[in-house]
Amino acid sequence: MKDYKEVSLRLVAMPSDTNPAGNIFGGWIMSQIDLAGSVAAKEVANGRVVTIAVDKMTFKKPVFVGDIVSFYAKIINVGTTSIQVSVEVVAERCTPKLYGVCTDVTSAVLTYVNVDENGNKIPISEENKKRAGF
Ligand SMILES: CC(C)(COP(=O)(O)OP(=O)(O)OC[C@H]1O[C@@H](n2cnc3c(N)ncnc32)[C@H](O)[C@@H]1OP(=O)(O)O)[C@@H](O)C(=O)NCCC(=O)NCCS
Repeated sequence: MKDYKEVSLRLVAMPSDTNPAGNIFGGWIMSQIDLAGSVAAKEVANGRVVTIAVDKMTFKKPVFVGDIVSFYAKIINVGTTSIQVSVEVVAERCTPKLYGVCTDVTSAVLTYVNVDENGNKIPISEENKKRAGF
């Protein structure tokens, strides 16, 4: 397994992304996780990927408006057509008392499948697997 974890996506949580309680909506976080994982999976496949499964999603702490949210992706397995990615989400707080404090807020494991232009699964080349460390 290639032992690297990269920031795949980094953005600021905005007021438009809140739930009725005023914290950031879980669905928004899930959507960003999917995007972050897909960026990493596409790099491995060197082509189009679709999400086939989202597993082990854990919301550990809330995300607040103004937090700088970083999504760290790590490739954990490459199969015949699939790529498994772990995504860890870290929120950098922005309130005066907690300014700059980084907190692990969410994690998930997602699986993507390499597909052709018609959406049919296709094998990941040996060359691309090797490049990803598998
Ligand atoms: C992706 C798709 C083409 C795969 O076709 P399929 O015939 O169902 O594929 P398979 O069942 O053979 O699974 C393909 C790979 O995914 C893996 N997989 C299937 N179900 C899985 C699950 N629940 N969890 C993890 N991996 C899974 C298989 O093990 C296989 O991996 P491998 O080739 O590396 O061994 C098809 O399921 C599909 O179009 N799904 C909809 C995708 C989509 O719209 N996503 C949302 C928007 S991106």
